[in-house]
Amino acid sequence: MKAINELDITNKTVLIRFDYNVPINKGKIINDFRIKASFETINYCLSQNASIVIMSHLGRPNGRNSDLSLKPVQKYLNKYYKNKIYFSDDCISSESIDISKSLKPGQIHLLENLRFYKQETDNNREFSKKLSSHGNIYVCDSFGTSHRSHASNSKILNFFKHRCIGLLMIREFDFLYQKKSLGTGIIIGGAKISTKIKMINFFLDNADYILIGGAMAFTFLKSKGLNVGLSMVENHMLDIAKEIIEKSKSINKNIILPVDVVCVKDNIDSNKIFIKNINNLEDNDIGLDIGPETLNIFRKKINKLDKVIWNGPLGLLENKNFSNGTIKVSKFVKRMKNKITIIGGGDTVSAIEMYDNLSGFTHVSTGGGASLKLLSGEKLNLTKSWEMY
Ligand code: 3PG
Repeated sequence: MKAINELDITNKTVLIRFDYNVPINKGKIINDFRIKASFETINYCLSQNASIVIMSHLGRPNGRNSDLSLKPVQKYLNKYYKNKIYFSDDCISSESIDISKSLKPGQIHLLENLRFYKQETDNNREFSKKLSSHGNIYVCDSFGTSHRSHASNSKILNFFKHRCIGLLMIREFDFLYQKKSLGTGIIIGGAKISTKIKMINFFLDNADYILIGGAMAFTFLKSKGLNVGLSMVENHMLDIAKEIIEKSKSINKNIILPVDVVCVKDNIDSNKIFIKNINNLEDNDIGLDIGPETLNIFRKKINKLDKVIWNGPLGLLENKNFSNGTIKVSKFVKRMKNKITIIGGGDTVSAIEMYDNLSGFTHVSTGGGASLKLLSGEKLNLTKSWEMY
């Protein structure tokens, strides 16, 4: 698969699929991380005198829905690319195609939400053919959507002789596609083992340490026979959790679970907060964050690593009282000088951004589901169509 800088795009119209699925409230963009991540490719195209047509989805609309219009993204882009941005309120109308055809080098045309047409998610051939009339060269740079096979990133390939991936895709694949390497550790958090089971299994074979926090730790601890009180547990995953722990022992791999937790009694709104050793939890205790001893162990392990990957929050972050684990681990990871630090997208990004910022890591992924899949050693749907990796 070619990268954008391997094709001659000078004076051409490039049709780029980005993932601008960003939170918007009353027309205001709440988080611009994904939009900013597209600037490198946009700037590269502008440096080559190309004109640009941008397509994206936003949310999961059922037909047209003004709350899910990409118009606020046009307003946002306009701040960075003054007087260069055109917007069409329909992604396949003949008027919109005419605008794309008349673009001058350096001009940008943003198309309305692709998912206003059901044909986008149906991977419809006719729809993708119409989309393809917007440009001469197709660029896929929507990593966040690359676990989907939709018209704008899959069927559309049939209509382009010249097609490539953008600079964001290259970066995401370079950092998230993991091969076995010594000195690698992964920090896994979040509520459920069930959503991350493949990732845990993958890193059992491919990392030195797996550090586990978040509510999912309690399923592992209960599977070892500990009393976890009223902490969240996936009871249907207990056998699987036990198998994972047994496998880790048999291959001499370290799964590091919390040794102490920040907890409350009876209900999560209680303001009486305790720190307890994991062996001393009582029937009405609820664990909601990793404790100081655990943080100490995590810090020592993180310091020994050359590469750390982090996926999932380590406590119930909505309540500041249970955010310390995530905040401290973010600091430990940022302090790893000259090492590789990779943050999985989606809920990990939101978790860090709640109390800190995203600077200081080597790579922060723009993909939620897509990064989880790639970090589980699975092929993305897009990868299959593009024969990458
Ligand atoms: C995401 O936010 O994970 C991507 O934009 C994909 O969105 P989807 O889950 O609605 O396909």
